[in-house]
Amino acid sequence: MATKGTPEERVKVLFVCLGNICRSPLAEGIFRARVEAAGLPWLEIDSAGTGAWHVGEKPDSRMRETARSHGISLESIRARKLSEEDLWTYDHIYAMDRSNLEDIRFLDASETFHDRVELFRKYDPNPDSLDVPDPYYGGRDGFETVFRIVDRTCASLLDSLQTRYGNELK
Ligand code: 4NP
Repeated sequence: MATKGTPEERVKVLFVCLGNICRSPLAEGIFRARVEAAGLPWLEIDSAGTGAWHVGEKPDSRMRETARSHGISLESIRARKLSEEDLWTYDHIYAMDRSNLEDIRFLDASETFHDRVELFRKYDPNPDSLDVPDPYYGGRDGFETVFRIVDRTCASLLDSLQTRYGNELK
């Protein structure tokens, strides 16, 4: 029998934004920290961007600094572009905003993976919008706002995944 937490049994989640240097790497870092704290080896986590401008780069320095100030390190993350293969690989793909969702759906023209792709903020317990706002062109405040949104949404998303899979995959 396969050991729990082996690659075949893992539930794979992917966070997707535009550049993969602000919102989705933050979600990856926060979610990973929460998953590690809870001891849940059956969850595998990654992030990607729909655009290729920043491929290979570390997350934006403002995002790294904001995350660090909350005890989250994003230092090991490097930007990559979302591929069609990701649609086959990941069980759950979370789009940071509606435009990202549209771009992901465009890659899935036959709608084969329709059910795997959803808006991240669907899980926000306190939603004032469906989108995580893009902080890239704004000031420092925007990064703090994004941190708060992504942090509380990651907590509620993890609860939801634990409810769905936690009893089978401990
Ligand atoms: P992200 O933010 O999608 O949260 O990573 C952005 C980063 C870079 C760009 C746009 C959004 N850009 O146009 O370079």
